[in-house]
Amino acid sequence: MKNILKPYKSKNLTLNNAVVMAPMTRCRADNEGNVPTAELHGTYYTQRASAGLIITEGSQVSTKAIGYLNTAGIHTEAQTAGWKKVVGEVHENGGKIFIQLWHVGRMSHPDFHGGDLPLAPSALNPEADVYTSKGQKKTVAPKEMTLEEIKETIKDFKDAASNAMAAGFDGVEIHSSNGYLLHQFFNKTSNHREDAYGGTMEKRAKIFFDILEAISEVMPVSKIGARFNPSLHGMFGMTMDEETIPTFEYIIKRLNEYDLAYIHLSEPFTDVSDIDYAVSNIAKHFRPLYEGTLMINAGFDQEKANEVLEAGNADLVAFGKLYVSNPDLVARFEKDASLADWDEDTFYTTGKEGYTDYPILAEQ
Ligand SMILES: Cc1cc2nc3c(=O)[nH]c(=O)nc-3n(C[C@H](O)[C@H](O)[C@H](O)COP(=O)(O)O)c2cc1C
Repeated sequence: MKNILKPYKSKNLTLNNAVVMAPMTRCRADNEGNVPTAELHGTYYTQRASAGLIITEGSQVSTKAIGYLNTAGIHTEAQTAGWKKVVGEVHENGGKIFIQLWHVGRMSHPDFHGGDLPLAPSALNPEADVYTSKGQKKTVAPKEMTLEEIKETIKDFKDAASNAMAAGFDGVEIHSSNGYLLHQFFNKTSNHREDAYGGTMEKRAKIFFDILEAISEVMPVSKIGARFNPSLHGMFGMTMDEETIPTFEYIIKRLNEYDLAYIHLSEPFTDVSDIDYAVSNIAKHFRPLYEGTLMINAGFDQEKANEVLEAGNADLVAFGKLYVSNPDLVARFEKDASLADWDEDTFYTTGKEGYTDYPILAEQ
């Protein structure tokens, strides 16, 4: 029987178990320079080091990539040094950790950019809410990126990957998911470009492959993962169309040509059974298209996780909210122990509360 608690070994990954901590923005880098700290980030991730693999919060690859308050970055020396301490602590505690490389694109606001417009494939407002230092605001129509700005962004991802290697991370995950910049390029509804980066599914996917190629110049491709949320609809300003799923099929099939650490897919975040172009069972749909390690996420508990492994539809399962409130999730699964509930009110606040103060079993 397959089981998430058994060690996982592939050509590129050797993990103590198949339980992954999903990437989660927690907004705790509320300091000058958005630097992750040993006190907060180090403690938080070390508490969760028994996961087979940790994927960090989305970490901006440049200041232009920011769309939330107090998110940690990976584009300055101070941030790299901060992450190095965090990674060192996780490694000392027997854990493995990838960093998620993030650009929010149009899911931002001029407040974050000294009054300048956020960047996106096309000047289309996602009509979403964002939280800036001046409170909740509506998104605006972003600036359509020039070819030069696309080139700079590709370089920002590459430089961020270099920094991640310098910080000692076991790998990086390209955040091409959840309605952020790369996802905005994939979907026709958010990408109206007619140049090399829009117009056909191959062209809409080009920026992702350009970034992947650029990152591979500074680190082994075997340490790179990529995250996708193919059936995202009605959230983060995203709308599906008849080419959305075929575009993801194209990308994921083409990724067989790259010897990645893994691909990380999300099941739909909402009920999409009534949405014309959506696929409801992502793991089942995409598993036959991809030969490498497939990580699945969204809405899993221990039982469902073992079922998806047993059905052969995934190799690893990532847990998000359960990891917010259960730092010792693996031990709890092993003992079939009760799971603590998470408090949504402290997902994005500052300080220790709701971050590093969730107890482990023995302390309860
Ligand atoms: C507080 C919070 C922050 C999140 N931040 C990110 C993020 O930075 N990057 C990302 O890819 N997904 C992010 N997500 C999505 C999670 O990785 C995951 O897909 C989602 O929580 C569903 O999985 P779950 O049902 O196991 O919680 C976030 C989710 C939560 C609850």
